[in-house]
Amino acid sequence: MPWIQLRLSANEETAEKYSDWLMACGAQAVTFIDAKDTPIYEPLPGDEITYWSNTVVMGLYDASHDMDKAISYLQGIHPEGKNLKYKLEQLEDKDWEREWMDNFHPMKFGERLWICPSWREAPEPNAVNVMLDPGLAFGTGTHPTTALCLTWLDSLDLSGKTVVDFGCGSGILSLAALKLGAEKVIGIDIDPQALQASLENAKRNGVEDRLELFLPKDQPTLKADVVVANILAGPLRELAPTIIEFVADNGLLALSGVLENQANDLQNLYGQWCNMSPIAVQDEWVRLSGQKRP
Ligand SMILES: C[S@@+](CC[C@H](N)C(=O)[O-])C[C@H]1O[C@@H](n2cnc3c(N)ncnc32)[C@H](O)[C@@H]1O
Repeated sequence: MPWIQLRLSANEETAEKYSDWLMACGAQAVTFIDAKDTPIYEPLPGDEITYWSNTVVMGLYDASHDMDKAISYLQGIHPEGKNLKYKLEQLEDKDWEREWMDNFHPMKFGERLWICPSWREAPEPNAVNVMLDPGLAFGTGTHPTTALCLTWLDSLDLSGKTVVDFGCGSGILSLAALKLGAEKVIGIDIDPQALQASLENAKRNGVEDRLELFLPKDQPTLKADVVVANILAGPLRELAPTIIEFVADNGLLALSGVLENQANDLQNLYGQWCNMSPIAVQDEWVRLSGQKRP
């Protein structure tokens, strides 16, 4: 069935209200996207959902829906009235899930590492191949924040090392570390669906006996040789004492999910405990890394 999508610009205060309005004038579903491509993070249990400061609220309507009537309704209720800015898009009738799968291709990171969709052939069978189906979790390698961490992991000698993957999502970084020779990985995520996806991907790659997965409330106390955390700058700041506790003396740390203008602040914060390396940049995202001082 073809669809019509109606987009409205909103912010943290208005997003929820606009969603209600779109539903009230016949939308079958409403989605929120960040106008600046910030990754999606789960709220803490019990926390309110927080919207981005530049949110796009999108209502999906059946193509036969009376859109003139829907727009009149919105103009009647929105403070901008007849001047309300909106965008209407006709969506082709596609199999959206398949389209997403078709766009996820095997990708090489660094010298040795390939991330391959589990439903495709690995292009270099003798390379370090991670076969991945992200399911509902974040992490395919297409986002720069993940790519920066994959390249970093590929650059390390992980043989026999213990790794903590803080915010493991699909398990992509955990599996990359294991396939690159790590002895054991501890994956932590606030989202149970992410832990499920990580476990399934570990089984797919035959490394489930070396991956331990935890919700933050159950996370163990341990010192790891390598810690990688791809979560936003805010949580990286707030969770700094927790994250740094996981890093063994002389252990290595990488932090991702950070925008260029947030890097200095975090570089100084983690510089209290680590000798920080120069940042790595991809698009507007940066990766911080360093070595913990004894
Ligand atoms: C950007 S994704 C990264 C996924 C994957 N590691 C990657 O590099 O693609 C961030 C992940 O961190 C998780 N997360 C967010 N806040 C967290 C927190 N406070 N503690 C643990 N995990 C968290 C999210 O559920 C999400 O799966």
